[in-house]
Amino acid sequence: MRTDDFIVSKTDAKGRITYCNPIFIEFSGYTEQELLGKQHNIIRHPDMPRTTFKLAWDTIQSGREFFAYVKNMSKDGSYYWVLAHMTPDLGSNGQPIGYTSVRRCPRPEAIERIESIYEKILAAERASGARDALAAGANVLNDFLLKEGKSYEELVLSI
Ligand SMILES: Cc1cc2nc3c(=O)[nH]c(=O)nc-3n(C[C@H](O)[C@H](O)[C@H](O)COP(=O)(O)O)c2cc1C
Repeated sequence: MRTDDFIVSKTDAKGRITYCNPIFIEFSGYTEQELLGKQHNIIRHPDMPRTTFKLAWDTIQSGREFFAYVKNMSKDGSYYWVLAHMTPDLGSNGQPIGYTSVRRCPRPEAIERIESIYEKILAAERASGARDALAAGANVLNDFLLKEGKSYEELVLSI
């Protein structure tokens, strides 16, 4: 990813892609037609912990912004890391009617740090089985954040 790139996408309230900018399309390896209307997990990488997405959805659904490091997978199986800023698009009643994500290129040092944390969360998720995966992942993340004395957002913005 190039340092001056902004990778942008928008979804409806259910996470189906409604817009992607040309750079998003380029990195995804899909055509615009293949992306529009699809669930955003079309670019999900299997190395990403479910715990991160749970935290993201809980936050943006409640009307707040969320910052996260995300490893994404292109159509050809290759990957690219992003620092994503996700925001809700609020309707006239104040409820989210969709979401927007604007992504920048993370610093290599930040990727190294977050990768080692994600590996531990993912290992806990896998060891505990599908039903308890989110609880197990959240435990690992919360222990880590407690030791660091930071929220997830503070961690993301500080590394
Ligand atoms: C605006 C927006 C942008 C998103 N961007 C990504 C993304 O870049 N990569 C990704 O894997 N998931 C992204 N998601 C989260 C997906 O909707 C989904 O929760 C995630 O891929 C996990 O897939 P799963 O729910 O099938 O496990 C985004 C969601 C929203 C609302």
